[in-house]
Amino acid sequence: MTSPLANDASLTSLFSARAANIKQSAVRDVFEISMQPGLISLAGGNPYLQSLPLEKLAESAARIIAEQGLEALQYGGGQGTLELREQICQVMAAEGITDADPENVVITAGSQSAQDVAAKVFCDPGDVVLVEDPTYVGALNALEAYQVEVIPMAGDGEGLLPEALREQLAQLRTAGKKVKFLYTIPNFNNPSGVMLSEQRRQQIIDICKKEHILILEDNPYGLLKFDGAPLPPLRARDAENVLYLGSFSKIFAPGLRIGWALVPAELKQRFYLASEAVTLCPPTFNQMLVSAYIRDYDWLAQVRRYRELYAERCETMLEALEEHMPAGVTWTRPVGGFFVWLTLPDHVDSYPLLREGIDAGVVFVPGAAFSTKPKSSSLRLAFSAVSSENIREGVRRLAPILAKAVTKQPSETTAAG
Ligand SMILES: Cc1ncc(COP(=O)(O)O)c(C=O)c1O
Repeated sequence: MTSPLANDASLTSLFSARAANIKQSAVRDVFEISMQPGLISLAGGNPYLQSLPLEKLAESAARIIAEQGLEALQYGGGQGTLELREQICQVMAAEGITDADPENVVITAGSQSAQDVAAKVFCDPGDVVLVEDPTYVGALNALEAYQVEVIPMAGDGEGLLPEALREQLAQLRTAGKKVKFLYTIPNFNNPSGVMLSEQRRQQIIDICKKEHILILEDNPYGLLKFDGAPLPPLRARDAENVLYLGSFSKIFAPGLRIGWALVPAELKQRFYLASEAVTLCPPTFNQMLVSAYIRDYDWLAQVRRYRELYAERCETMLEALEEHMPAGVTWTRPVGGFFVWLTLPDHVDSYPLLREGIDAGVVFVPGAAFSTKPKSSSLRLAFSAVSSENIREGVRRLAPILAKAVTKQPSETTAAG
């Protein structure tokens, strides 16, 4: 038999067509850079883990190994432990979903792996998925790897525009396209920080239902609304048409890689089997540690501490922007989550500004990371894991770079980028 390598020396010729769509995200690039000493990173969407009860968690971890080690270090069920699935239902009740059945919860390696599974079980190459513009880079990466046609949808300060969604769906129907789902982050979108208004939530549900497409609702920041009164997720209004994704990454610890999907009953089995094919089972020890955290600690009090902390940091960032930013730069004013989204005039490409930012000692994520378009005049700043002092200093360092970019003539910017 002839070796597949006979006519081509490079092993890369063995990659699938799909693999060409798998790229390193700009967020990961920036993540590496952010580690350099002296730089202020406003890039990473990291929770502020310093406020967790680390010593007590160490005791819980030791107790789990000492008392239940053989279970904790063993394979477990593919859907996740029943104890944690029941606790996840309590967490979702705090988010406003009161009818979740642990039977329909599938524990995943973070919300990220649930997104991959969703793309895998619903999308054939060429199928359409609608997303917010801008949207979470990890979702774009997962969808693009399955050769999905991702269509960004316009929004404003109140989130996705229902009218634009309706029109887009009608056009796609006329064009004979198969739309599988709307991927949406209704609460404190990453990267824009925008929250979908109460009034639009039902409209979006109704439109998707009428068009027979699923809603993939990603809600890792839902509990982190600064005033402590989260808006009920879309799933709270619609148990049939919404596949809901939750995560412990932003309210507890991303390193444990524990998230979940609450799947409509008729879709659950296939979703669960696809998830099992990827991870076999979610990590047993990590699930037990999350269970201990929910059972033995006042996790809601910790969520309250996080809210207060993030509210304060967000306020500091907004004040610093007000003080330092030049005319021509606008930004969102989030009421929860981790991010502020800055927008410069259209002629500016924010990507080349990253280099200038690094030279000035500040890092951000250029907007193109969160878009299907190659260029963006926006950028994302994260306030979640940065001290107030560094937020002020980071914004102060960034301001002259943006001021220069705003005043450059469009042709100069194009030449530079
Ligand atoms: C909207 C959104 N979804 C999912 C994730 C990833 O979550 P997880 O750590 O649960 O995989 C993030 C992380 O930044 C996010 O912002």
